[in-house]
Amino acid sequence: MSNLRYSQVTPKSEYLNRRRFLAGGAAAVGALVLPVSTYAGAKLSGVTKSPLSTTEPATPFEAITGYNNYYEFGTDKGDPAKNAQNFKTSPWTLTIEGNVAKPKTLDLDGIMKIAPLEERIYRHRCVERWSIVVPWIGFSLSALLQQVEPNSKAKYVAFQSYYDPKQMPEGKHAGIQLPYLEGLRIDEAMHPLAMLVVGLYGEVLPNQNGAPLRLAVPWKYGFKSIKSIVKIKLVEKEPPTAWNLANAHEYGFYSNVNPEVDHPRWSQAKERRLPGFATRPTLKFNGYGDQVAGLYTGMDLKKYY
Ligand code: MTE
Repeated sequence: MSNLRYSQVTPKSEYLNRRRFLAGGAAAVGALVLPVSTYAGAKLSGVTKSPLSTTEPATPFEAITGYNNYYEFGTDKGDPAKNAQNFKTSPWTLTIEGNVAKPKTLDLDGIMKIAPLEERIYRHRCVERWSIVVPWIGFSLSALLQQVEPNSKAKYVAFQSYYDPKQMPEGKHAGIQLPYLEGLRIDEAMHPLAMLVVGLYGEVLPNQNGAPLRLAVPWKYGFKSIKSIVKIKLVEKEPPTAWNLANAHEYGFYSNVNPEVDHPRWSQAKERRLPGFATRPTLKFNGYGDQVAGLYTGMDLKKYY
């Protein structure tokens, strides 16, 4: 539904109590004025199922939302779920600027109107060797990029996360430079699989998963999928990225999932599928090679790791 407004998402407390709510005669579900935290878990409507989904079963909600990397909220896997609960995600401002004809500043309503919402069930492989299967909700990043009309100098897309040391005091101990930065080559960013995500499992993104807006780039290691995005800039040169700045030897710009290229400290040949301990072989490009291998024709993927 292209005209879905953020103010029209149904807060969880409300749809759980919908019957009582309707019986009470309060019909005005629109124009909700709510503290932001009530959006977490709010149901998204008008979502269609995407043919880009894997047929693998989705990982349980509890594992997707309870085992996270979001260093602004702490470095233990359980920290984000605990520490991000009161993170304020509204109002939110996303700016898209740089080498474009039509720079934009969007609020949450504007973000929700970029394109119709789709559910896409993607594999998500962390560089630390765990993987999950997530029913993301969102749309192709290309839908937004096309609207700003990149010019011929737009060779890369740089992304920046929100960072507020007051709301994210654990960020001081992250061991990486914040705000978190990421980047893609323009053709990677325009690939239909590269997704801007606003929800999962039918609901608005939980804060620990990167509310209100994050990337999902399923053929790359999870750290490329930057959370809580506030700025997107179309640039001429390869932009700096948080993990590459922290340790260039271990984390390259491309970071395509590749079982043939080991991390300096561990093999990437296998992965653990959460929530269990069973391992499985890791697939090149995380199993998306048919769609994306052509982006890297002629490139030495050991050099461009
Ligand atoms: N984005 C920000 N802003 N901060 C982070 O620490 N961690 C990255 C990525 N995006 C991170 C981030 C890493 S290492 C991974 S594996 C994924 O988010 C984890 O996403 P998930 O917690 O939703 O599974």
